Amino acid sequence: MSTNADLFAKCEAFVASREAKALGYYPYFKPVSTAEDTEVIIEGHKVLMLGSNNYLGLTTHPKVVEAAVEAVRKYGTSSCGSRFLNGTLDLHRRLEERLAEFLRREAALVFSTGFQTNLGTISALVGKGDVVISDKWNHASIVDGARLSYGEFRRFRHNDMGDLEKVLKDCPEEAGKLIVVDGLFSMEGDLSPLDEITKLAKRYGARVMVDDAHGLGVMGEHGRGTAEHFGVEDEIDLVMGTFSKSFASLGGVIAGDAYVIEYIQHHARSMIFSASMPPAAVAAVLAALEIIEKEPERRKQLWKNARKMLHGLKELGFDTGCSQTPVIPIVVGDMFKALEMWKRLFEAGVYVNVVLPPAVPPDRALLRTSYMATHTDKQLDFALEVFERVGRACGLIP
Ligand SMILES: Cc1ncc(COP(=O)(O)O)c(C=O)c1O
Repeated sequence: MSTNADLFAKCEAFVASREAKALGYYPYFKPVSTAEDTEVIIEGHKVLMLGSNNYLGLTTHPKVVEAAVEAVRKYGTSSCGSRFLNGTLDLHRRLEERLAEFLRREAALVFSTGFQTNLGTISALVGKGDVVISDKWNHASIVDGARLSYGEFRRFRHNDMGDLEKVLKDCPEEAGKLIVVDGLFSMEGDLSPLDEITKLAKRYGARVMVDDAHGLGVMGEHGRGTAEHFGVEDEIDLVMGTFSKSFASLGGVIAGDAYVIEYIQHHARSMIFSASMPPAAVAAVLAALEIIEKEPERRKQLWKNARKMLHGLKELGFDTGCSQTPVIPIVVGDMFKALEMWKRLFEAGVYVNVVLPPAVPPDRALLRTSYMATHTDKQLDFALEVFERVGRACGLIP
């Protein structure tokens, strides 16, 4: 007997976003009508941008912009094909060589987005009988990559090394094991203890992959990321990165031993069955990489700004969780209070990201703030003034 259930019934029943919009509390999909910079215009309203992952401020750097424009002139707007077939430009190869050199790996492979990099890499490597072991706070693309694989997916409590060891112990001895962690956690700005993770991996015969989307360009003396910060680059098997943050572009990379990259290159469906990074995006990463290598002062300034804000927010009495980096959460807890605070901050000229469950644990709604090397002291002082005023009005600080 046919039930005649309407597939779209769930869409009709989904009213949360429409209700929030009607009440003026909808913080998502806001159109920015200027370049992503320290200040932007949103719906005609000039705001200080404290929600971008443009950590080094390179999206408007003249050399990055010029490189992208030049690439369009030479290669046109798109490769119109997969890396596997007609879509590999000499520019892609150059970027892979440069990234392998930068990350001190034998080989690197670029994908069209960071999300696709995790999907393709994890699902290619983890087969039947293998296990992916993932921190509970890992990015959604790691979770989806694991789900897409034919292996088993096991999780350990966030940054809990005792729990990781327990999960490793419980894995069948004959299973191939891949531990995957974010290097720098994108919502709370804390780090994975890679020094301890690599020791456990060695003890239990597991491979380690670090998603350093937020760590590359930011962490380590040379910007090589969280593994450089912990001094364990040689112990990490695979480094994954995105270009949508410090590299001021779009795309992703996986880097490691040549034979492993060769395998991923021939098995990662999200790369093989998708068009390659457009020329402008590749050229922008190449230019950004050169700046990252040659101008360490940008990273120093980023950290100066981050320290100023972490200190300032803490002094005002905000709960900044366990942040150790330029990603600094303001933990609010209650979802409605977080939305109220976001709205008032926006009206006062400060844009932040609101992060609600399920992206964070229940009762841990937060405002995610992130800082750029190009924020000025004056802008950051203004932000602290606004945070103080709005935080008091919302009853979040005394
Ligand atoms: C930790 C992490 N991994 C992967 C991604 C996906 O990267 P992309 O935006 O380049 O697809 C992101 C971006 O949000 C991220 O934060």
